[in-house]
Amino acid sequence: MTTKMAINAKDIFRNQHRLIRFIEQSIRLCSNQSLKTAQQQQEKSNVSADFEISASVNTEYTHAPEPIKHDKDLGQQFKASQLAVRLATPQQLQPKPDNDEELGFGKLFTDHMLKIYYHKSLGGWQKPEITPLENLVMHPAAKVLHYAVELFEGMKAYRGLDGKIRIFRPDMNMARMNLAAQRSGLPTFEGKEFVKCLARLLSIDSEWVPHTDAASLYIRPTLIGIDPTLGVASSDSALLYSILSPVGSYFKTGSNGAVSLLADPRYTRAWPGGVGNRKMGSNYAPTINVQKEAAARGLQQVLWLYGEDHQLTEVGTMNIFMFYVNEQGEQELITPPLNGLILPGITRDSILSMTKQWGKFKVREGIITMAMVTDLLNQGRLLELFGTGTACVVSPINRINYMGTDLYIPTMEQEKPIHELIRETLTDIQYGKVDHPWSMVID
Ligand SMILES: Cc1ncc(COP(=O)(O)O)c(C=O)c1O
Repeated sequence: MTTKMAINAKDIFRNQHRLIRFIEQSIRLCSNQSLKTAQQQQEKSNVSADFEISASVNTEYTHAPEPIKHDKDLGQQFKASQLAVRLATPQQLQPKPDNDEELGFGKLFTDHMLKIYYHKSLGGWQKPEITPLENLVMHPAAKVLHYAVELFEGMKAYRGLDGKIRIFRPDMNMARMNLAAQRSGLPTFEGKEFVKCLARLLSIDSEWVPHTDAASLYIRPTLIGIDPTLGVASSDSALLYSILSPVGSYFKTGSNGAVSLLADPRYTRAWPGGVGNRKMGSNYAPTINVQKEAAARGLQQVLWLYGEDHQLTEVGTMNIFMFYVNEQGEQELITPPLNGLILPGITRDSILSMTKQWGKFKVREGIITMAMVTDLLNQGRLLELFGTGTACVVSPINRINYMGTDLYIPTMEQEKPIHELIRETLTDIQYGKVDHPWSMVID
Protein backbone atom coordinates (compact mmCIF):
# COMPACT_ATOMS: atom_id res chain seq x y z
CA MET A 1 0.00 0.00 0.00
CA THR A 2 2.73 2.42 1.08
CA THR A 3 4.82 1.48 -1.99
CA LYS A 4 1.83 2.02 -4.30
CA MET A 5 1.15 5.42 -2.78
CA ALA A 6 4.83 6.31 -3.15
CA ILE A 7 4.74 5.30 -6.84
CA ASN A 8 1.63 7.36 -7.43
CA ALA A 9 3.12 10.42 -5.77
CA LYS A 10 6.26 9.99 -7.91
CA ASP A 11 4.13 9.68 -11.06
CA ILE A 12 2.21 12.80 -10.19
CA PHE A 13 5.44 14.70 -9.53
CA ARG A 14 6.93 13.51 -12.83
CA ASN A 15 3.81 14.40 -14.78
CA GLN A 16 3.07 17.68 -13.03
CA HIS A 17 3.65 19.66 -16.22
CA ARG A 18 1.23 17.55 -18.19
CA LEU A 19 -1.39 17.89 -15.46
CA ILE A 20 -0.91 21.63 -15.16
CA ARG A 21 -1.01 21.92 -18.94
CA PHE A 22 -4.18 19.85 -19.12
CA ILE A 23 -5.92 22.01 -16.50
CA GLU A 24 -4.73 25.23 -18.12
CA GLN A 25 -5.71 24.06 -21.58
CA SER A 26 -9.21 23.33 -20.38
CA ILE A 27 -9.40 26.77 -18.76
CA ARG A 28 -8.07 28.43 -21.92
CA LEU A 29 -10.47 26.52 -24.13
CA CYS A 30 -13.35 27.60 -21.92
CA SER A 31 -12.15 31.19 -21.98
CA ASN A 32 -12.99 33.40 -24.92
CA GLN A 33 -9.40 33.37 -26.30
CA SER A 34 -9.80 30.54 -28.77
CA LEU A 35 -13.33 31.63 -29.63
CA LYS A 36 -11.99 35.06 -30.38
CA THR A 37 -9.38 33.57 -32.69
CA ALA A 38 -12.03 31.65 -34.60
CA GLN A 39 -14.18 34.76 -34.91
CA GLN A 40 -11.24 36.85 -36.07
CA GLN A 41 -10.60 34.14 -38.61
CA GLN A 42 -14.04 34.51 -40.08
CA GLU A 43 -14.14 38.28 -39.91
CA LYS A 44 -10.72 38.71 -41.51
CA SER A 45 -11.29 40.41 -44.82
CA ASN A 46 -10.10 38.37 -47.75
CA VAL A 47 -7.46 40.26 -49.64
CA SER A 48 -8.77 39.83 -53.13
CA ALA A 49 -6.29 38.69 -55.67
CA ASP A 50 -6.67 38.56 -59.41
CA PHE A 51 -5.17 35.11 -59.34
CA GLU A 52 -5.32 31.82 -57.51
CA ILE A 53 -2.55 31.27 -55.02
CA SER A 54 -1.30 27.76 -54.70
CA ALA A 55 -0.04 26.50 -51.36
CA SER A 56 2.21 23.95 -52.98
CA VAL A 57 5.86 24.69 -53.42
CA ASN A 58 7.56 24.33 -56.72
CA THR A 59 11.00 23.03 -55.81
CA GLU A 60 12.46 24.96 -58.71
CA TYR A 61 12.00 28.10 -56.62
CA THR A 62 12.82 26.72 -53.16
CA HIS A 63 16.34 26.97 -51.85
CA ALA A 64 17.35 24.05 -49.67
CA PRO A 65 20.28 25.03 -47.49
CA GLU A 66 23.67 23.50 -48.23
CA PRO A 67 24.75 20.84 -45.71
CA ILE A 68 27.36 22.19 -43.33
CA LYS A 69 30.97 20.98 -43.54
CA HIS A 70 32.37 20.58 -40.03
CA ASP A 71 36.04 21.20 -39.19
CA LYS A 72 38.05 17.99 -39.04
CA ASP A 73 39.17 18.60 -35.45
CA LEU A 74 35.73 19.61 -34.14
CA GLY A 75 35.21 16.36 -32.20
CA GLN A 76 31.95 14.60 -31.42
CA GLN A 77 28.48 15.93 -32.31
CA PHE A 78 25.56 15.90 -29.88
CA LYS A 79 22.45 13.81 -30.49
CA ALA A 80 18.85 14.58 -29.52
CA SER A 81 18.56 10.99 -28.28
CA GLN A 82 20.99 11.93 -25.46
CA LEU A 83 18.74 14.76 -24.25
CA ALA A 84 18.31 14.93 -20.47
CA VAL A 85 15.37 16.85 -18.98
CA ARG A 86 15.31 18.58 -15.59
CA LEU A 87 11.84 20.05 -15.12
CA ALA A 88 11.05 23.17 -13.13
CA THR A 89 9.49 22.58 -9.74
CA PRO A 90 5.88 23.78 -9.32
CA GLN A 91 7.24 26.80 -7.39
CA GLN A 92 9.47 27.75 -10.33
CA LEU A 93 6.64 27.77 -12.88
CA GLN A 94 5.73 31.30 -13.98
CA PRO A 95 2.17 32.51 -14.56
CA LYS A 96 1.34 32.77 -18.24
CA PRO A 97 0.26 36.13 -19.66
CA ASP A 98 -3.47 36.88 -19.69
CA ASN A 99 -3.62 38.90 -22.84
CA ASP A 100 -1.60 37.37 -25.65
CA GLU A 101 -2.18 40.33 -27.93
CA GLU A 102 -0.42 42.82 -25.64
CA LEU A 103 2.76 40.91 -25.06
CA GLY A 104 5.24 43.21 -26.76
CA PHE A 105 8.54 41.66 -27.85
CA GLY A 106 10.91 39.52 -25.76
CA LYS A 107 9.88 40.65 -22.29
CA LEU A 108 8.58 37.38 -20.87
CA PHE A 109 10.22 33.97 -20.96
CA THR A 110 8.90 30.44 -20.59
CA ASP A 111 9.75 28.05 -17.76
CA HIS A 112 12.49 26.03 -19.47
CA MET A 113 15.54 26.40 -21.70
CA LEU A 114 17.77 24.14 -23.79
CA LYS A 115 21.54 24.01 -23.18
CA ILE A 116 24.34 22.22 -25.00
CA TYR A 117 27.96 22.79 -24.02
CA TYR A 118 30.95 22.33 -26.28
CA HIS A 119 34.35 21.60 -24.75
CA LYS A 120 37.15 20.67 -27.10
CA SER A 121 39.11 19.24 -24.14
CA LEU A 122 36.22 16.85 -23.41
CA GLY A 123 36.00 15.62 -27.00
CA GLY A 124 33.52 18.09 -28.53
CA TRP A 125 29.79 18.61 -28.05
CA GLN A 126 28.35 17.40 -24.74
CA LYS A 127 24.90 15.93 -24.07
CA PRO A 128 21.97 18.30 -24.57
CA GLU A 129 19.96 19.26 -21.53
CA ILE A 130 16.61 20.95 -20.89
CA THR A 131 16.59 22.79 -17.57
CA PRO A 132 14.43 25.35 -15.82
CA LEU A 133 15.13 28.86 -17.20
CA GLU A 134 18.11 30.01 -15.18
CA ASN A 135 20.97 32.51 -15.19
CA LEU A 136 24.20 31.49 -16.86
CA VAL A 137 27.43 31.45 -14.92
CA MET A 138 30.64 32.18 -16.79
CA HIS A 139 34.19 33.33 -16.23
CA PRO A 140 34.63 37.12 -16.52
CA ALA A 141 37.20 36.50 -19.29
CA ALA A 142 34.68 34.55 -21.40
CA LYS A 143 35.22 35.55 -25.03
CA VAL A 144 31.60 36.49 -25.57
CA LEU A 145 31.95 39.25 -22.98
CA HIS A 146 35.00 40.84 -24.66
CA TYR A 147 34.90 40.21 -28.39
CA ALA A 148 31.19 39.59 -28.95
CA VAL A 149 31.91 35.98 -29.95
CA GLU A 150 28.18 35.42 -30.28
CA LEU A 151 25.48 34.68 -32.79
CA PHE A 152 21.81 34.01 -32.63
CA GLU A 153 18.69 33.10 -34.56
CA GLY A 154 15.08 34.21 -34.51
CA MET A 155 12.36 31.63 -35.15
CA LYS A 156 8.75 31.30 -34.08
CA ALA A 157 6.34 28.58 -32.98
CA TYR A 158 2.75 29.17 -34.12
CA ARG A 159 -0.40 27.58 -32.75
CA GLY A 160 -2.91 26.75 -35.46
CA LEU A 161 -6.69 26.61 -35.16
CA ASP A 162 -6.24 22.82 -35.09
CA GLY A 163 -4.28 23.28 -31.84
CA LYS A 164 -1.07 21.97 -33.44
CA ILE A 165 2.18 23.85 -32.97
CA ARG A 166 4.32 24.51 -36.02
CA ILE A 167 7.72 26.01 -36.77
CA PHE A 168 8.69 27.51 -40.12
CA ARG A 169 11.64 26.28 -42.25
CA PRO A 170 13.92 25.52 -39.26
CA ASP A 171 16.53 23.99 -41.59
CA MET A 172 17.15 27.48 -42.98
CA ASN A 173 17.79 28.94 -39.50
CA MET A 174 20.16 26.11 -38.67
CA ALA A 175 22.13 26.58 -41.89
CA ARG A 176 22.40 30.34 -41.26
CA MET A 177 23.47 29.73 -37.67
CA ASN A 178 26.21 27.33 -38.72
CA LEU A 179 27.56 29.80 -41.31
CA ALA A 180 27.75 32.43 -38.57
CA ALA A 181 29.47 29.91 -36.27
CA GLN A 182 32.09 29.25 -38.93
CA ARG A 183 32.74 32.97 -39.37
CA SER A 184 33.01 33.50 -35.58
CA GLY A 185 35.44 30.67 -34.80
CA LEU A 186 32.69 28.83 -32.94
CA PRO A 187 31.95 25.10 -33.24
CA THR A 188 29.41 24.03 -35.85
CA PHE A 189 26.71 21.48 -35.07
CA GLU A 190 24.10 19.24 -36.67
CA GLY A 191 21.06 21.48 -37.17
CA LYS A 192 18.63 18.54 -37.40
CA GLU A 193 19.63 17.31 -33.94
CA PHE A 194 19.25 20.80 -32.50
CA VAL A 195 15.76 21.13 -34.01
CA LYS A 196 14.76 17.81 -32.44
CA CYS A 197 15.92 19.11 -29.02
CA LEU A 198 14.02 22.37 -29.66
CA ALA A 199 10.89 20.39 -30.49
CA ARG A 200 11.15 18.71 -27.09
CA LEU A 201 11.59 22.08 -25.36
CA LEU A 202 8.56 23.39 -27.22
CA SER A 203 6.45 20.43 -26.22
CA ILE A 204 7.42 20.87 -22.55
CA ASP A 205 6.56 24.60 -22.65
CA SER A 206 3.80 24.17 -25.23
CA GLU A 207 1.16 25.95 -23.17
CA TRP A 208 3.22 29.11 -23.60
CA VAL A 209 2.47 29.14 -27.33
CA PRO A 210 -0.29 31.78 -27.55
CA HIS A 211 -3.79 30.63 -28.49
CA THR A 212 -4.28 33.32 -31.12
CA ASP A 213 -2.93 34.19 -34.53
CA ALA A 214 -2.11 37.69 -33.28
CA ALA A 215 0.81 36.28 -31.26
CA SER A 216 3.36 33.46 -31.29
CA LEU A 217 6.23 31.98 -29.29
CA TYR A 218 9.55 33.48 -30.31
CA ILE A 219 12.48 31.05 -30.27
CA ARG A 220 15.95 32.47 -29.65
CA PRO A 221 18.72 29.92 -30.34
CA THR A 222 22.05 31.43 -29.29
CA LEU A 223 25.68 30.33 -29.53
CA ILE A 224 28.34 32.01 -27.36
CA GLY A 225 32.08 31.54 -26.92
CA ILE A 226 32.80 30.91 -23.24
CA ASP A 227 36.50 30.13 -23.31
CA PRO A 228 37.90 31.86 -20.21
CA THR A 229 40.90 33.35 -22.06
CA LEU A 230 41.52 36.82 -23.47
CA GLY A 231 43.21 35.85 -26.75
CA VAL A 232 41.38 36.92 -29.91
CA ALA A 233 41.15 33.34 -31.15
CA SER A 234 38.56 30.67 -31.74
CA SER A 235 36.75 29.51 -28.63
CA ASP A 236 37.48 25.97 -27.42
CA SER A 237 34.43 26.10 -25.18
CA ALA A 238 31.00 27.27 -26.23
CA LEU A 239 27.40 27.17 -25.13
CA LEU A 240 24.55 26.63 -27.55
CA TYR A 241 21.23 27.38 -25.90
CA SER A 242 17.71 28.41 -26.63
CA ILE A 243 15.16 30.41 -24.71
CA LEU A 244 11.50 30.96 -25.63
CA SER A 245 9.44 34.12 -25.33
CA PRO A 246 5.74 34.67 -26.06
CA VAL A 247 5.48 37.70 -28.34
CA GLY A 248 2.78 39.90 -29.76
CA SER A 249 3.24 42.41 -32.53
CA TYR A 250 6.89 43.52 -32.99
CA PHE A 251 6.36 47.19 -33.80
CA LYS A 252 4.30 49.95 -32.37
CA THR A 253 3.12 51.16 -35.75
CA GLY A 254 1.30 54.30 -36.76
CA SER A 255 -2.48 54.26 -36.81
CA ASN A 256 -2.66 52.65 -40.26
CA GLY A 257 -0.11 49.91 -39.48
CA ALA A 258 2.70 51.39 -41.59
CA VAL A 259 6.14 52.46 -40.37
CA SER A 260 8.18 55.60 -41.05
CA LEU A 261 11.95 55.46 -41.61
CA LEU A 262 15.05 57.52 -41.05
CA ALA A 263 17.43 57.24 -44.05
CA ASP A 264 20.66 58.95 -43.07
CA PRO A 265 23.68 58.16 -45.29
CA ARG A 266 26.07 59.02 -42.42
CA TYR A 267 25.29 55.62 -40.93
CA THR A 268 25.84 52.20 -42.44
CA ARG A 269 25.09 48.72 -41.08
CA ALA A 270 27.27 46.51 -43.25
CA TRP A 271 30.08 46.69 -45.79
CA PRO A 272 31.72 44.39 -48.35
CA GLY A 273 33.81 41.69 -46.71
CA GLY A 274 32.10 42.30 -43.36
CA VAL A 275 29.50 40.17 -41.61
CA GLY A 276 26.26 41.96 -42.47
CA ASN A 277 25.11 38.66 -43.93
CA ARG A 278 25.53 36.80 -40.62
CA LYS A 279 23.28 37.06 -37.58
CA MET A 280 25.98 38.01 -35.09
CA GLY A 281 25.35 40.10 -31.99
CA SER A 282 28.17 42.43 -33.04
CA ASN A 283 26.04 43.68 -35.95
CA TYR A 284 23.24 44.88 -33.72
CA ALA A 285 24.81 46.89 -30.86
CA PRO A 286 26.01 49.68 -33.20
CA THR A 287 22.48 50.14 -34.57
CA ILE A 288 20.86 50.97 -31.23
CA ASN A 289 21.88 54.60 -31.03
CA VAL A 290 20.83 55.29 -34.61
CA GLN A 291 17.46 53.70 -33.84
CA LYS A 292 17.24 56.04 -30.83
CA GLU A 293 17.94 58.99 -33.10
CA ALA A 294 15.16 57.88 -35.45
CA ALA A 295 12.75 57.60 -32.51
CA ALA A 296 13.74 61.07 -31.27
CA ARG A 297 12.75 62.39 -34.72
CA GLY A 298 9.39 60.61 -34.49
CA LEU A 299 10.41 57.86 -36.94
CA GLN A 300 9.96 54.18 -36.20
CA GLN A 301 12.84 52.44 -37.97
CA VAL A 302 16.18 53.05 -39.66
CA LEU A 303 16.58 52.52 -43.39
CA TRP A 304 20.17 51.36 -43.75
CA LEU A 305 21.92 52.88 -46.75
CA TYR A 306 25.24 51.90 -48.28
CA GLY A 307 27.70 53.52 -50.67
CA GLU A 308 27.98 56.76 -52.63
CA ASP A 309 24.75 56.02 -54.46
CA HIS A 310 22.85 55.49 -51.21
CA GLN A 311 21.75 51.92 -51.84
CA LEU A 312 18.87 50.66 -49.72
CA THR A 313 20.12 47.56 -47.90
CA GLU A 314 17.86 46.69 -44.96
CA VAL A 315 15.24 48.34 -42.81
CA GLY A 316 15.75 48.00 -39.05
CA THR A 317 16.16 44.25 -38.62
CA MET A 318 14.27 43.41 -41.79
CA ASN A 319 14.95 42.84 -45.47
CA ILE A 320 13.40 45.34 -47.83
CA PHE A 321 11.16 44.86 -50.88
CA MET A 322 9.87 47.38 -53.41
CA PHE A 323 6.89 46.82 -55.72
CA TYR A 324 6.88 49.18 -58.68
CA VAL A 325 6.21 49.67 -62.37
CA ASN A 326 9.41 49.14 -64.37
CA GLU A 327 10.62 50.91 -67.54
CA GLN A 328 8.66 48.45 -69.66
CA GLY A 329 5.44 49.31 -67.82
CA GLU A 330 5.37 45.93 -66.03
CA GLN A 331 4.79 45.42 -62.31
CA GLU A 332 7.95 44.17 -60.64
CA LEU A 333 8.94 43.10 -57.14
CA ILE A 334 12.57 43.80 -56.30
CA THR A 335 14.80 43.18 -53.27
CA PRO A 336 18.55 43.82 -52.90
CA PRO A 337 20.79 40.87 -53.83
CA LEU A 338 22.69 38.75 -51.29
CA ASN A 339 25.96 40.60 -51.89
CA GLY A 340 27.29 40.30 -48.34
CA LEU A 341 25.54 43.44 -47.04
CA ILE A 342 22.20 41.75 -46.60
CA LEU A 343 21.09 39.16 -44.08
CA PRO A 344 19.74 36.17 -46.06
CA GLY A 345 16.30 36.41 -44.49
CA ILE A 346 14.15 33.31 -44.42
CA THR A 347 11.05 35.44 -44.96
CA ARG A 348 12.87 37.11 -47.90
CA ASP A 349 13.71 33.74 -49.45
CA SER A 350 10.15 32.49 -48.92
CA ILE A 351 8.66 35.60 -50.53
CA LEU A 352 10.98 35.32 -53.53
CA SER A 353 10.08 31.63 -53.98
CA MET A 354 6.36 32.21 -53.52
CA THR A 355 6.01 35.22 -55.79
CA LYS A 356 8.18 33.66 -58.54
CA GLN A 357 5.88 30.68 -58.40
CA TRP A 358 2.77 32.89 -58.67
CA GLY A 359 4.20 34.17 -61.95
CA LYS A 360 1.90 37.19 -61.97
CA PHE A 361 4.51 39.92 -61.91
CA LYS A 362 8.26 40.13 -62.41
CA VAL A 363 10.41 39.24 -59.44
CA ARG A 364 14.10 40.02 -59.25
CA GLU A 365 17.04 40.66 -56.96
CA GLY A 366 18.72 43.97 -57.76
CA ILE A 367 20.25 47.12 -56.31
CA ILE A 368 17.75 49.80 -55.23
CA THR A 369 19.12 53.32 -54.74
CA MET A 370 17.53 56.37 -53.14
CA ALA A 371 17.71 58.13 -56.52
CA MET A 372 15.63 55.29 -57.97
CA VAL A 373 13.09 55.64 -55.13
CA THR A 374 12.72 59.40 -55.61
CA ASP A 375 12.48 59.11 -59.43
CA LEU A 376 9.85 56.36 -59.20
CA LEU A 377 7.90 58.40 -56.68
CA ASN A 378 8.00 61.49 -58.89
CA GLN A 379 6.77 59.44 -61.84
CA GLY A 380 4.04 57.77 -59.79
CA ARG A 381 5.61 54.35 -60.46
CA LEU A 382 6.48 53.34 -56.89
CA LEU A 383 3.61 51.26 -55.56
CA GLU A 384 4.74 49.67 -52.31
CA LEU A 385 7.73 49.46 -50.03
CA PHE A 386 7.88 46.98 -47.17
CA GLY A 387 10.20 45.27 -44.71
CA THR A 388 10.11 41.51 -44.10
CA GLY A 389 11.27 39.29 -41.25
CA THR A 390 10.27 36.59 -38.79
CA ALA A 391 9.33 39.09 -36.08
CA CYS A 392 6.90 41.15 -38.17
CA VAL A 393 6.35 38.97 -41.31
CA VAL A 394 5.65 42.03 -43.49
CA SER A 395 5.85 45.64 -42.36
CA PRO A 396 4.55 48.28 -44.80
CA ILE A 397 6.47 51.57 -45.09
CA ASN A 398 4.65 54.87 -45.66
CA ARG A 399 7.32 57.54 -45.16
CA ILE A 400 11.09 57.95 -45.48
CA ASN A 401 12.88 60.92 -44.02
CA TYR A 402 15.87 61.31 -46.38
CA MET A 403 18.32 64.23 -46.24
CA GLY A 404 15.80 66.35 -44.37
CA THR A 405 12.91 65.65 -46.75
CA ASP A 406 9.88 63.48 -46.14
CA LEU A 407 9.16 61.06 -48.98
CA TYR A 408 5.61 59.73 -48.79
CA ILE A 409 5.29 56.17 -50.07
CA PRO A 410 1.83 55.11 -51.27
CA THR A 411 2.12 51.56 -49.84
CA MET A 412 -1.16 51.83 -47.95
CA GLU A 413 -3.03 53.48 -50.79
CA GLN A 414 -3.06 50.52 -53.19
CA GLU A 415 -6.37 48.87 -53.91
CA LYS A 416 -4.99 45.33 -53.77
CA PRO A 417 -1.69 45.69 -51.92
CA ILE A 418 0.75 42.95 -52.70
CA HIS A 419 2.33 43.11 -49.22
CA GLU A 420 -1.00 42.10 -47.66
CA LEU A 421 -1.38 39.20 -50.01
CA ILE A 422 2.15 38.08 -49.17
CA ARG A 423 1.55 38.43 -45.42
CA GLU A 424 -1.70 36.51 -45.60
CA THR A 425 -0.22 33.69 -47.67
CA LEU A 426 2.77 33.35 -45.36
CA THR A 427 0.78 33.48 -42.11
CA ASP A 428 -1.70 30.96 -43.50
CA ILE A 429 1.24 28.58 -43.93
CA GLN A 430 2.77 29.43 -40.54
CA TYR A 431 -0.49 28.99 -38.61
CA GLY A 432 -1.31 25.80 -40.52
CA LYS A 433 -4.40 27.13 -42.28
CA VAL A 434 -2.95 25.49 -45.35
CA ASP A 435 -0.73 22.43 -45.36
CA HIS A 436 2.70 23.27 -46.59
CA PRO A 437 6.12 21.59 -46.58
CA TRP A 438 7.65 24.76 -45.06
CA SER A 439 5.67 24.19 -41.85
CA MET A 440 6.96 21.58 -39.43
CA VAL A 441 4.48 20.26 -36.88
CA ILE A 442 5.82 19.73 -33.36
CA ASP A 443 4.43 16.50 -31.90
C1 LIG B 1 19.34 42.46 -40.04
C2 LIG B 1 18.20 41.55 -40.34
N1 LIG B 1 17.73 41.51 -41.60
C3 LIG B 1 16.70 40.71 -41.95
C4 LIG B 1 16.09 39.89 -41.02
C5 LIG B 1 14.96 39.00 -41.45
O1 LIG B 1 15.35 37.65 -41.46
P1 LIG B 1 14.29 36.50 -41.28
O2 LIG B 1 13.30 36.65 -42.36
O3 LIG B 1 15.07 35.23 -41.39
O4 LIG B 1 13.69 36.68 -39.93
C6 LIG B 1 16.54 39.91 -39.70
C7 LIG B 1 15.93 39.08 -38.69
O5 LIG B 1 16.32 37.97 -38.47
C8 LIG B 1 17.64 40.75 -39.35
O6 LIG B 1 18.11 40.78 -38.10
